[in-house]
Order: sequence, then C-alpha cells, then structure tokens
Amino acid sequence: MNSIPSSQTIPFQLQGQFVGFIYKSNGQSKSLILAVGERQLRVKIDKSLRDTQALNILPGDWISITGEQEFKGNFTKLKLKAYEINRLSCNVKCDQEQENNANVTVQGKTCPKKGKILLCNKSDCAKRGGRKLHQLLEQTLCNLGLQDHVTIEKTSCQKRCGKAPNMILMPGKSKHSKPNPKAIAELLEEHYLNSLNK
Ligand code: FES
Repeated sequence: MNSIPSSQTIPFQLQGQFVGFIYKSNGQSKSLILAVGERQLRVKIDKSLRDTQALNILPGDWISITGEQEFKGNFTKLKLKAYEINRLSCNVKCDQEQENNANVTVQGKTCPKKGKILLCNKSDCAKRGGRKLHQLLEQTLCNLGLQDHVTIEKTSCQKRCGKAPNMILMPGKSKHSKPNPKAIAELLEEHYLNSLNK
C-alpha cells in the first residue's frame, strides 16, 4: 500500500488586492497579505523578491501572484509562497473622466489628456536603471492619479547613452537623464499638474 506523503507542493496563481507587508524584526519583508474576495491570505515572499521597493506595490493595488502552495499533514495546513508578483492595476482613480474635453481634472488641477513619457528602452538605459525607472514611473503616475492621462512609451536610443537612463516628458520635450528616484513624484507633479495650472 502507498504511504501518504507528509507534504505536497502544487503551483498556484492568485489575483487579489494587496493589503500590506508583514516585516521581520530587521525590517525586511517576509510575507504579504492578499485579499481574495472575503478572505485574507498570508503569502510568504521568496528571498529573491524581498526588496519591497522593487516590488513597487501599494496597499489597494491589484496584484497577481505566482508561486507554490504546500499542503502539510492531512491537508489541514496550507502554506503559500510567492515567486513572482506583478501589479495589475493601481488603486488610484482620477477624480473625473471627461471623454470629449482636451483636459481633465486630477487632484483639483488640470492635466493634459494626452501626456506621454518617452522612455529609452535600448540596452544602455534598460541595463542602467531603465527597468526600475519604468516601474517607478508607473507607480508614481498612479499615486498622482495620472495613470489614465499620461502614458509611458518605450523608444529607441535617445543619443544620450552616457547619462542613462533617459526619458523625455511630453508635451514640452523636457529631457531628463539619470533622474533621482526620490524626486520623480515631484518632477511629474510639476510637469503634468503644477506647470499647467500657473
Ligand atoms: S541607450 Fe538610452 S540613450 Fe542610448
């Protein structure tokens, strides 16, 4: 007769709303809480994903998690471990949608309906911070409520490879090299919200 294994591991993919991280005493994240319908699930985060800044998710974001679930004992204990986490959409919605107007109102300010960030996607920029910059721009647009009005477009080489990563804010053709991650929110707010309201 076959003996019953003491544990069994099966791959899973889950989608739900991110609630928050659970941290170790050293400040490193070890798990996250995911709301799926009425249930809140605790999901352990694989070591390779424990840089929560790189994960770039905020409470309320919709995320997808790929990982493994481990059943222990008589299938009474279930452990979930995440190997890949992707943000599906952010939780911030613009205050108002105005389909036929050239401008829309975000946070009480007017922003252009068709703003664009041209982000260099060639190897020098991609390798030297471009990928992280892309994630940061997406998240910041969400945080500012601009995600429906400013798109990110990947471009070929912008001929400033020595100063990678590079991007251009449109309208206005405002060129930025090696933007300081801490100043991105201020930069986008200034370009897409404040300068248009002066
Ligand atoms: S690779 Fe980005 S500017 Fe050349």
